[in-house]
Amino acid sequence: MTQVQWSPNLSVGNDEIDADHEKLIGLLNGLMADIEKGSGHEVIRTGLEQLMTETQNHFRHEERIMLQASYPELAYHQRLHESLMEEIREFYSSLESGSEIGPEVTEFIKNWLISHIMESDKQLGGYLQGLAAGQAGQTGPE
Ligand SMILES: [Fe+2]
Ligand SMILES: [Fe+2]
Repeated sequence: MTQVQWSPNLSVGNDEIDADHEKLIGLLNGLMADIEKGSGHEVIRTGLEQLMTETQNHFRHEERIMLQASYPELAYHQRLHESLMEEIREFYSSLESGSEIGPEVTEFIKNWLISHIMESDKQLGGYLQGLAAGQAGQTGPE
């Protein structure tokens, strides 16, 4: 299981969103390490719970940014977020009902997050940069 290394190619060009992503990757790496070490059920449960909470917080944050920027893909992007939350909630409830979770769970979340950042979040980042550039280019009222 390979940990995710934060690198500039994961940047979407927005500091707030990048900071959230870096934090999520840190939590994910921690959970991966705990699973790999064979940590106890309670450690894994706490780690997944934290990742679930922070992922939800990040999604809300990103959706707020999209709303403020009148991002046209908001509804679609929100559905993508919701689909990951459903998966994570399912992993979490099976963990809560006593099942073990293995590396396939963190692997799944990792692949989802990375491809979502590289595609959908970068698209959003490009849109936000375009807006900022447009605003900076305005010299006064037309
Ligand atoms: Fe997103
Ligand atoms: Fe994101």
